[in-house]
Amino acid sequence: MQVVKTISEIRKIRPKLAEPVGFVPTMGYLHQGHLSLVRYARVENRSLVVSIFVNPTQFGPSEDFERYPRDTECDLALLENERVDIVFMPSAAEMYPPRFNSWVEVSHVTERLEGASRPGHFKGVTTVVCKLFNILQPNVAYFGQKDAQQALVIKKMVAELNMDLKIVTLPTVRESDGLAMSSRNTYLNPKERQAALVLHQALNLAQKLFSEGERDASRLRREMLSLIGKEPLAKPDYVSVADTETLEELDTLTLPALVSLAVKIGKTRLIDNVMLE
Ligand code: PAF
Repeated sequence: MQVVKTISEIRKIRPKLAEPVGFVPTMGYLHQGHLSLVRYARVENRSLVVSIFVNPTQFGPSEDFERYPRDTECDLALLENERVDIVFMPSAAEMYPPRFNSWVEVSHVTERLEGASRPGHFKGVTTVVCKLFNILQPNVAYFGQKDAQQALVIKKMVAELNMDLKIVTLPTVRESDGLAMSSRNTYLNPKERQAALVLHQALNLAQKLFSEGERDASRLRREMLSLIGKEPLAKPDYVSVADTETLEELDTLTLPALVSLAVKIGKTRLIDNVMLE
């Protein structure tokens, strides 16, 4: 496994990589969710590149960029074990040199849900992902369904800007009690960790109501909010039952639908979702 830190170095290596080249972009602090993408990509591709870059431009001024968890040594050991070929680990200065002024922005679908709560977040995501695609020239890139809106936005960017690669989205990996794996789970103290189960419980409730025949999307949102309201450590940011393409809120359930939510557990903001199909 080769660790590459500069764009000039990767440009020399890329033409020598056997195709297809699979790519898993990450911000490090890897967990089983990331590793499931890496394992899937390892099987599907002749070469496998993983990036580790905590992208400053996708964090708002009051968000957790500085304290975002980092453990490069552990990440590299995990990736070595998965037989990754290249780890691309640029510095912030390498990715954003002085007077950096070029941005990639997808409109509309970025204005809802995460985009509404985190202004500028998706502009940072699409810019860095576009840069990584340009630098690494992968044939296939892999994203987790846990960040459903991110996956949708990236698919749209790739299609609409005619980027020549395939995007694959893979299922959310959960702890045994249902909590979606996330690097941010590490912020939770034991009481908060227990309280965080309310996200999964609310999604389960929506699925149950749906399977019992409920088609009123506002009832699903109401019932989920009421369940979250019973957990004293939880403060909902949004609860959504939306169209999977436009992310517009639904009145009557049409399928497929994306049920998603963001909830603050103490100071930690968590997201999760489920698709009704
Ligand atoms: O999902 C993430 O970890 C990040 O948003 C990504 C795609 C690596 C871009 O920084």
